[in-house]
Amino acid sequence: MADTAPASSSTLTITQPDDWHLHFRDGDMLAMTVPATARVFKRAIVMPNLAPPVTTVAQAEAYRQRILAHVPEGMDFEPLMALYLTQDTSVQDVREAAQNPNIIGYKLYPAGATTNSSAGVRAVDAMGPVLETMQEFGVPLLVHGEVTEPEIDIFDREKVFIDRYLAPITQRYSRLKVILEHITTKDAVEFVTEAHELVAATLTPQHLLMNRNDLLVGGVHVHNYCLPVLKRRTHQEALQQAAISGNKKFFLGTDSAPHVQAKKETACGCAGCFSAFTAIELYAEAFAQLDALDKLEGFASHFGADFYGRPRNTKKIQLQRDIWQAPATVTHNGETWVPYWAGRDLQWQVVMAGA
Ligand code: DOR
Ligand code: ZN
Repeated sequence: MADTAPASSSTLTITQPDDWHLHFRDGDMLAMTVPATARVFKRAIVMPNLAPPVTTVAQAEAYRQRILAHVPEGMDFEPLMALYLTQDTSVQDVREAAQNPNIIGYKLYPAGATTNSSAGVRAVDAMGPVLETMQEFGVPLLVHGEVTEPEIDIFDREKVFIDRYLAPITQRYSRLKVILEHITTKDAVEFVTEAHELVAATLTPQHLLMNRNDLLVGGVHVHNYCLPVLKRRTHQEALQQAAISGNKKFFLGTDSAPHVQAKKETACGCAGCFSAFTAIELYAEAFAQLDALDKLEGFASHFGADFYGRPRNTKKIQLQRDIWQAPATVTHNGETWVPYWAGRDLQWQVVMAGA
């Protein structure tokens, strides 16, 4: 950590970070989402929950080319593609995915758990041969960890998923890399901490900076609504401690998930916080609040690469302490998005990226 400036300083230089979980969407939106992330991040894992979902290597390759076409001139950005696991994914599909270096792993969405997850897995217990093959060929399993049964309280869905599915999977497949994405509970922190060394988790800015009061006190704050939903403060504190612990199992994954303003600000608002425009600054905010800026580089730039077996980035980014406001809205092609943290102060600003 020799390159990391002390927290009291007004500049912070860290290795260029990676985003190990986000949503770019497709089509026209890529002209907005890809530059927003490539501005700071060297690599990002791109979620496959398009409509229809990205289930095959050929679809992922075509999607990857569409993304690359929107990387601004002179920027060096590498999309890493997650494939969408379905009940019909075959052992042969996994073998093919394992041969392709642009495919980072399979994403398990329990069917119905979140946006565009209806094609997801309905019976996790029936996926044994596929998980076995993933383990054999070193293909990681990326997990949206929530059960979907209507009788299970939404605030308990992550814990129940861990107890019912994830704990057995990690015990049975002790050589399978498993990433529990966007964790939201103390239970998840404890599970990941205690699980074998190939089990890790990503943490979003919103789950570090907020708890369910920020969603529900004084009205319903739709732009803070994401899935898994924000939990109570004690869980937020456990996530914060995991992020600043220096434990290499916890690393950055924004889950930046754009939905147009009209689809958020409606009677049934979509789940997702669009954080790409201020992502590293939001993490800096969270770490600064915890007086732990010296821990940001490992979390944002080292641990994810180490876990996925990819080289650490060699370039640097520099942030400066300088209060500014996150954009209130973003417009593109005549449509408007309200980003996460819209209009609020941020203490740190990127002044140099990827040099
Ligand atoms: O809040 C979320 N938004 N959580 C997810 O799991 C999916 C994402 C999306 O695609 O909008
Ligand atoms: Zn996501």
